Amino acid sequence: MQIRKAVIPVAGLGTRFLPASKAIPKEMLTIVDRPTIQYIVEEVVASGIDQVILITSAGKSAIENHFDYDYELDHVLTKKKKHVLADEINHISNLIDVVSVRQKKPLGLGHAILQARHVIGDEPFVVLLGDDLVLSDQPCTKQMINLFEEVGESIVAVQRVPMDQTYQYGIVEGVKERDQVHKIKRMVEKPAPGTTNSDMAIIGRYILQPEIFDLLEKTTPGHGGEIQLTDALLALTNKRGMYAYEFEGTRFDAGDKLGYLKAIIAFGLRHPEVCDNFSDHLKEVASQL
Ligand code: UTP
Repeated sequence: MQIRKAVIPVAGLGTRFLPASKAIPKEMLTIVDRPTIQYIVEEVVASGIDQVILITSAGKSAIENHFDYDYELDHVLTKKKKHVLADEINHISNLIDVVSVRQKKPLGLGHAILQARHVIGDEPFVVLLGDDLVLSDQPCTKQMINLFEEVGESIVAVQRVPMDQTYQYGIVEGVKERDQVHKIKRMVEKPAPGTTNSDMAIIGRYILQPEIFDLLEKTTPGHGGEIQLTDALLALTNKRGMYAYEFEGTRFDAGDKLGYLKAIIAFGLRHPEVCDNFSDHLKEVASQL
């Protein structure tokens, strides 16, 4: 079945980015000249998907507004003959059909995804975390859709991490089927050191079969009273099977201070307008370290 819909949860509290995220959603923080969330929506569009379902909460309306048409701004820019800017602004609102659903309380990523159930219905869908950026030639989501067309089962994107950092991630253990593709056997959320021999960490890109919703309904709240996605993913693995995919590209956790800074450097070095001068500047800074 074709994948047509993408769920992007953005209802989290963003505590790692306080105080910046107090009044501005962390997904609206800028990487060069556009907010993090725009790169993610552009990845969805470039992967051939028709609709985005944002899972939002109070205080996140700036994200919805960013993808909405702004009549006043369009009018003022056009009147001032700033046509290029007006086109750019209107382009964002024409990118893709965006609907939003509220998560009334931040009860975890699993709970956030469950809020999309009535919009998704009975078809497979993609999930992209609103603060996870992937820089790649072919969009990470498109790479995963290609694999899904082959295997027809749920997929999580993974990256290799140093063994002494596995405790910070959801880790999958699996059997290698071929280059970059593993059949998942076990999944552990933030394993205690020495309790796994796998270095494959789950990042914020998933393709899920709709059975996940029933499994999320049955998932009891875990740590911090939150409904963890990993628990339902494990249940889905046992029920129908799931694959781990080592995507091509570099992932940045833009919801974390260091990850955000790294993302600015990587995206800045690729930005057509500033890349040359920025690169010269970085070399100068590096020579002074
Ligand atoms: P994170 O744990 O990275 O985000 O969740 P957070 O909770 O906003 O941030 P910190 O840890 O307090 O700094 C991953 C994604 O899931 C969403 C977040 O918005 C983020 O995109 N999320 C998380 C929800 O939508 N609802 C939740 O209840 C929890």
